[in-house]
Amino acid sequence: MASIVIKGGTVVTADLSHAADVLVEGGVITAIGPDLSGDTVLDAAGCYIMPGGIDPHTHLEMPFMGTYSADDFESGTRAALAGGTTMVVDFILPGQGQGLMDAAQMWHNKSGRANCDYSYHMAVTWWGEKVWEDMALSVAAGIPSFKHFMAYKGALMVNDDELFASFRRVGDLGGLAMVHAENGDVVAELTAKLLAEGNTGPEAHGYSRPPQVEGEATNRAIMIADMAGVPLYVVHTSCEDAHEAIRRARAAGKRVWGEPLIQHLTLDESEYFHPDWDHAARRVMSPPFRDKKHQDSLWAGLQSGSLSCVATDHCAFTTAQKRFGLGDFSKIPNGTGGLEDRLPMLWTQGVGTGRLTPNEFVAVTSTNIAKILNLYPKKGAVLVGADADLVVWDPAKEKVISAGSQQSSIDYNVFEGKTVKGLPRYTLTRGQVAVQDGEIRTEEGHGRFVGRAAQPAVNRALSAWKELTAPRPVQRAGIPATGV
Ligand code: URP
Ligand code: ZN
Ligand code: ZN
Ligand code: ZN
Repeated sequence: MASIVIKGGTVVTADLSHAADVLVEGGVITAIGPDLSGDTVLDAAGCYIMPGGIDPHTHLEMPFMGTYSADDFESGTRAALAGGTTMVVDFILPGQGQGLMDAAQMWHNKSGRANCDYSYHMAVTWWGEKVWEDMALSVAAGIPSFKHFMAYKGALMVNDDELFASFRRVGDLGGLAMVHAENGDVVAELTAKLLAEGNTGPEAHGYSRPPQVEGEATNRAIMIADMAGVPLYVVHTSCEDAHEAIRRARAAGKRVWGEPLIQHLTLDESEYFHPDWDHAARRVMSPPFRDKKHQDSLWAGLQSGSLSCVATDHCAFTTAQKRFGLGDFSKIPNGTGGLEDRLPMLWTQGVGTGRLTPNEFVAVTSTNIAKILNLYPKKGAVLVGADADLVVWDPAKEKVISAGSQQSSIDYNVFEGKTVKGLPRYTLTRGQVAVQDGEIRTEEGHGRFVGRAAQPAVNRALSAWKELTAPRPVQRAGIPATGV
């Protein structure tokens, strides 16, 4: 079997940087050290050898708001690899009344074209006995994380009683509860009011979902997870209001993680006031882009550890699809792209500015989520025995982001015109070189499904604590007679 040796670089992991060569055989790392040799040599001089990025939040070819997101598993994972990301975790979205495993089969049918490895989260989009039963099957099938939408009223939203029931079930199964935290009732009311008052343009999308609705829902989800005794992962944390809730929960010892997106870290609400309707609509996503002050909060969260992972929520729609919402902002399909740009943008604006160290960069783009999702050390590590999902990162390589040269199939890029410094020289997916100096050599269908085991240790600890502190009746010697 032909081997590959990556020579002359510095291995950078979440906790260590050291000069070493890396030998890859049969898709896994078989040696790390000085003076290694192999059949093919990849020159890593001046580069960092890091675990490939893991994007824990994508929506590829997803049915949503009357259409399908435009990037499928082929173009989406090609974009990922081009930007140094070697694994995506996509959300299975069962339709109303649809069984979870039926929906999982639909996702498996689509993902056969993936160029890199992938895993799934399951969404709980409705509630009933069938869902309760299927959740155990989902865990057994390697999908132990369950996302709940507190927004999208009338479509995907679940209510608090359903959230509590589902969270308890997730806890019993050793799984991870996840939430899209926005108060869907308030968003629906604000949307109707804005439209009635003639606020129909994309800027009203931001007005309809202020930070307070995200902060409230994040607090509520944390409280419900605490009552249910289940760990909680909050997706797309976009503002200080939500971050503050997560920070407080973590300081109180709760198992809660927050996930800012590269979009919210680097783009702000002024995009919605652009005179070009298309420009503004292309940036409509939920939660919306925020006032710049929230960016400082998110960066501080990454620096201090109160926020754990940077994702994209890649859910790309073409301009033609965005135009479904001409005259009514609530019909603009929600979502933006970012798979190809997450690592270069975060490196440029994080490591390039001194806000993050290279090791912290690895932690928030790969290793932390690998640990949270029970993928570590198969993924998220540069260790002997780990999958050779690697990026050879050239900190001197520059480009200007442009839709004209991107892998995503849409016709624009929300980061258009941004200069990034720090790009992959090579990206390897299970030992296969998929990107070489800007040349894309991906292989359709190379990607494999990575099933994940439940992680009962956290849940057991939480339930043991719940049991110790559970309400108990006071045993009394006698009860006073009534009417005395
Ligand atoms: O606007 C967004 N985020 N679209 C994708 C679906 C979701 O809410 O994650
Ligand atoms: Zn969401
Ligand atoms: Zn999403
Ligand atoms: Zn292959």
